[in-house]
Amino acid sequence: MNILITGGAGFAASNFIRQILKKYPNYQVINLDKLTYAGNLNNLKDIEGNANYKFLKGDIADKRITDKVLRNENIDVIINYAAETHVDRSILDPDAFVRTDVIGIYNLLEGVKEFKVKKYIQISTDEVFGSIKEGKFKEDSPFKPNSPYSASKASGDLLCRSYIKTYNLPIIITHSCNFYGPYQYPEKLIPLFITNLIENKKVPLYGDGQNVREWIYVLDHCNAIDFLLHKGELGEVYNIGSGVEKKNIEITKLILNELGASEDMIEPVKDRAGHDFRYAVDHTKLKKLGWQAEHNFDDAMRDTIRWYQNNDWWWKPIKSGEYLEYYKKQYK
Ligand code: DAU
Repeated sequence: MNILITGGAGFAASNFIRQILKKYPNYQVINLDKLTYAGNLNNLKDIEGNANYKFLKGDIADKRITDKVLRNENIDVIINYAAETHVDRSILDPDAFVRTDVIGIYNLLEGVKEFKVKKYIQISTDEVFGSIKEGKFKEDSPFKPNSPYSASKASGDLLCRSYIKTYNLPIIITHSCNFYGPYQYPEKLIPLFITNLIENKKVPLYGDGQNVREWIYVLDHCNAIDFLLHKGELGEVYNIGSGVEKKNIEITKLILNELGASEDMIEPVKDRAGHDFRYAVDHTKLKKLGWQAEHNFDDAMRDTIRWYQNNDWWWKPIKSGEYLEYYKKQYK
C-alpha cells in the first residue's frame, strides 16, 4: 500500500509514520511536508534511511504540487495531517490557516477525485464544535468554531463532508481531543511548560487556569488512525478521545511537581481571546468498532517529561529565531 502522509514532519504525523513503518514492513510511506516553522525533519531522523520511506518537500496549498505527487507516486491512501494548528498564532495571523487548512484540503480532495485515491483520512479537531460546559460532543454535534484556527479546520471538514455527499468519495473524518507526547512543538501548553521549567523559566498560565481539555497520548492517537485506516467505514465521522479531562492548573501542577519546581514559577498572564472553556468528545462510536486508548495519563505524562529532559538536542534549537519573534508579538 502506498500511503501519502501530508504534514509528516509535524508532531502527531511523525509519530504515526514511525509506528506504521515498524508495524507494516510492506507499506510505502511518502511524506509531503512544506517544512513550516513546526515541521521538523529531526522528528524523523531515526527513519531517514528506511527504504520504505520517502520525503518530498511541498505545500498542499499549491495544486500543481498535490497533483504532481498523486500522479507520480501511485497513492492508494492519503492521511491529511498537514495543518496550521496553533490557536494563538491564528489569532495573530490567520492567513496561513486559511491557505493550508482550507485551500490545501480542497486541492487534496480534488486529487482524490481525479486520481482515484482509495481512501482519504482527515485529521481534525474537537475544536470545530466550540466549547461545551457539560456533556460531550458527538460526531453530529453542530460546528461552532470560535478561533480562526478552528474555523479553518471546520471549513476543511465541511469540504470533506460535501465531497462524500456529492461525489461519493472514500473519506473518513476524525475529530480528536488534545494530544501530548514526544516531538510536540514547544508552543503548546504541555511541551512549553516542560521546556520552560527545564530552562528555569516561568510558565504563562492563561486566565485562572480552570479551562478543561481532554488529553490523549500521541501514541494512542496513532493507534486510532491505524485502526481507522484498516477498519474505519468510508463516509463516516469518528471522534477520537481518551475520557481523561484535566484543568490547565492540574496539568501545570503535575509538571511543576515532576520537575521539582514551586508554584512561584506560574506566571498568570492575560487570557486568550475567545478562549474556549472546555472540550470533551464522546468516542463511543470508535469504541463500539473495537478501539480504545491504552495509555495511563500519569505514566504517559511522566514519559513525556522524561523525553523532553533527555532530548534537549531536539527542542533547544527550536527555541530561537522565529520562535522568539513569535513570543515577542504574542506578549508585546
Ligand atoms: O482540541 C484539540 C486541539 O488542541 C488541537 O486541534 C489544536 O491544534 C491544539 O493546539 C490544541 O488546542 P488548545 O488551544 O486546546 O491547545 P494549547 O496547548 O494551545 O492550550 C491548551 C490549554 O492551555 C488552553 O486552555 C490554553 C492554555 N494555555 C496554552 C498555552 C500555549 C495556557 O494557559 N498557556 C499557554 O502558554
